[in-house]
Amino acid sequence: MVAYQSGFGHTAAVARSVVEGAKSVPGAEVTLIDVDTLPGPGPDRALPDAWMPLNEADAIIFGCPTYMGTVSAGFKRFMDHTGALWFTQAWKDKMAAGFTNAAGLSGDKLNTLVAMSLFAAQHSMVWVSQGVFMEEGGINRMGAWLGLMTQADNAPPEQTPPPEDHETARRFGRRVAEATARWVRGRA
Ligand SMILES: Cc1cc2nc3c(=O)[nH]c(=O)nc-3n(C[C@H](O)[C@H](O)[C@H](O)COP(=O)(O)O)c2cc1C
Repeated sequence: MVAYQSGFGHTAAVARSVVEGAKSVPGAEVTLIDVDTLPGPGPDRALPDAWMPLNEADAIIFGCPTYMGTVSAGFKRFMDHTGALWFTQAWKDKMAAGFTNAAGLSGDKLNTLVAMSLFAAQHSMVWVSQGVFMEEGGINRMGAWLGLMTQADNAPPEQTPPPEDHETARRFGRRVAEATARWVRGRA
């Protein structure tokens, strides 16, 4: 499961590449959810049924743009809506990983990944690092390790981030799906 938020479509495009990579692993069933579409908790703090796919997933890859040096407000709203799930540790031992897209080469993206990984740790999830080595041609050109980082210019999402970032995203998605398959096999 890839759960993302995107204000202007760039992070959404990266999310689709992450899904593509994850789907390339035999047996992996991968779905994509825009967290802006998820309704918030009711008065009893319980979450509506739309959250079920997240609760049932073996892994959740989180993604959002970096806004003002941290997770976007939409993604933070999603994080805060998981309070009742945290209370019962409902996501304990699911695999987790994260990605962020921003305009700057640094853009303080690391802080976004730190926030996501702490969020996963609060849920007692098992964090998978980026794991795609830097290669000529721009693979992992951000030199990111905690999670996937991509960079988009001020142009439409069909043009940016560049193809090498999308290829890094596919490899990252594949890595998380492979790690999840190993984890699920080992648990069985
Ligand atoms: C409110 C706001 C804050 C932003 N803050 C940052 C930032 O801290 N660092 C950065 O590199 N880019 C920043 N940007 C640029 C976005 O990260 C960039 O445009 C990104 O591609 C947007 O992704 P999206 O299309 O998925 O929303 C900001 C953009 C907005 C709208």
